[in-house]
Amino acid sequence: MQISAVSKEINEWSGSVLIAGVLEGTIESQTNLFKTLIKDDFLSKRFNDEKFEGKKSQKFSIELIEGEIKKVIFVGLGKAETLQINDLRKAAAIGARQVSGYGRKLGIFFPWDAFEPSSAACAVGEAVRLSSIKDLRFKSESKKPTSLDEVELIGLDTNTTKSDIAEINPICDGVKFARELVSAPPNVLTPYQMAKEAEKLANDFDLDLKILDKKECEDQGMGAYLAVAKGSDLKPYFIHLKYSPKTVKNKVVLIGKGLTFDSGGYNLKVGASQIEKMKYDMGGSAAVLGTARVIAELKPSYTEVHFIVAACENMINGSALHPGDIIKASNGKTIEVNNTDAEGRLTLADALVYACKLKPDAIVDLATLTGACVIALGDEIAGLWTDNDQLSEQLTKAAGKAGEGIWRMPMQDSYKSGIKSSIADLQNTGPRPGGSITAALFLKEFVNSSIPWAHIDIAGTCWTEKDRDINPKGATGYGVRTLVNWIKELNLNAN
Ligand code: BES
Ligand code: MN
Ligand code: ZN
Repeated sequence: MQISAVSKEINEWSGSVLIAGVLEGTIESQTNLFKTLIKDDFLSKRFNDEKFEGKKSQKFSIELIEGEIKKVIFVGLGKAETLQINDLRKAAAIGARQVSGYGRKLGIFFPWDAFEPSSAACAVGEAVRLSSIKDLRFKSESKKPTSLDEVELIGLDTNTTKSDIAEINPICDGVKFARELVSAPPNVLTPYQMAKEAEKLANDFDLDLKILDKKECEDQGMGAYLAVAKGSDLKPYFIHLKYSPKTVKNKVVLIGKGLTFDSGGYNLKVGASQIEKMKYDMGGSAAVLGTARVIAELKPSYTEVHFIVAACENMINGSALHPGDIIKASNGKTIEVNNTDAEGRLTLADALVYACKLKPDAIVDLATLTGACVIALGDEIAGLWTDNDQLSEQLTKAAGKAGEGIWRMPMQDSYKSGIKSSIADLQNTGPRPGGSITAALFLKEFVNSSIPWAHIDIAGTCWTEKDRDINPKGATGYGVRTLVNWIKELNLNAN
């Protein structure tokens, strides 16, 4: 999909399908504008009949028989005073869902003037591409829908936007990759396959790759991660990718929870705990590998980025963790496993210890860690835990720019009593209330306190049950664009 800005007037534009954003209260002037383009004298009557007033998310489309343009999709943007870039994103997604089958060249006509051209271009370009991705890999007979070849952002400043627009496709490729990792079933995306995917990335995009097998993880003393892995017939793979620029001015580590399936272990997921969904328990690692792909393509000049995934499955067999086992992580801390279903934090514990040894300037982990976070924030907002105000601000800004919901949650140190064990240094779960907080506090035990660290719980956001904004039903690829924005900003500031 080729995306470009064209500095044309709307009535000079030609193509096969058009999405037109309409501000509430501007129907009359808009009608005059479009009348000439689509040669329809009844346009204002049609708007009237449809009660189309340009309210947020309202849509109304007209199919045309004569001329090159086959369809015009009007999407409401709400009032000019309240217009935000996210409204453009949503409107573009609503429109893009209606374009299939109407040709290959899409035009988008929005009130760009209210925004900085590059941000608007990227938001809308990404929205169009991301909202129309369909995963057909597992359909035996796939009628491929005709895809768009060209998208033109009509009337947008072409000079300032070029280099930013060029980033849209690499970014969307990363999000698509992340979504595909998440939606792949657990019999396809195994820990081994995840390692293979990392290897492909390393080869295709020139990243350094280190994969630790079970033996090497044992040598590192990763007793927490390996304790989770041992209940599965599939071997664990600890994945470490690295992007290094020629000049390194700063260095960060991204860690993703990589449970290719989470059955709960002997604390089996029963009842409403949705065991059948637990292929998405590697959403964090998908975001991290998706980001690796983007970063490897964008090649920031100064920021070294490490991507880490402790991939495994949480299953049941004769050598699986018993509820009550005491295990030892690679920093020497002992953990009483009072619930085998709190496995993510065990794998992350050793990944965090490993990350700290790289002496980075910051560590960010993403994890589908707790059901409690879904209850607290739903599927549009991820939870953010960090003691570091600066990191919190940076990530919140990066997510805001991406239109990905995030909310800082308290790192309530007094709740640490909840994960105190009477027999080991820690136990892996606390009481149900505040369960996402004790999970974050548990992770904190494995981070060197001098390294800025943030934990993002994406249990709710990595998946959507319905088409929502730029996300079609299914895996969202949440986190990729936030992490990319964050790294781009760090890189810029390092200069
Ligand atoms: N992968 C789950 C968390 C999860 C739940 C993600 C629902 C997405 C949707 C995690 O491993 C888990 O099972 N957490 C437990 C922790 C509990 C045992 C303290 C949970 O949230 O129930
Ligand atoms: Mn679990
Ligand atoms: Zn899990």
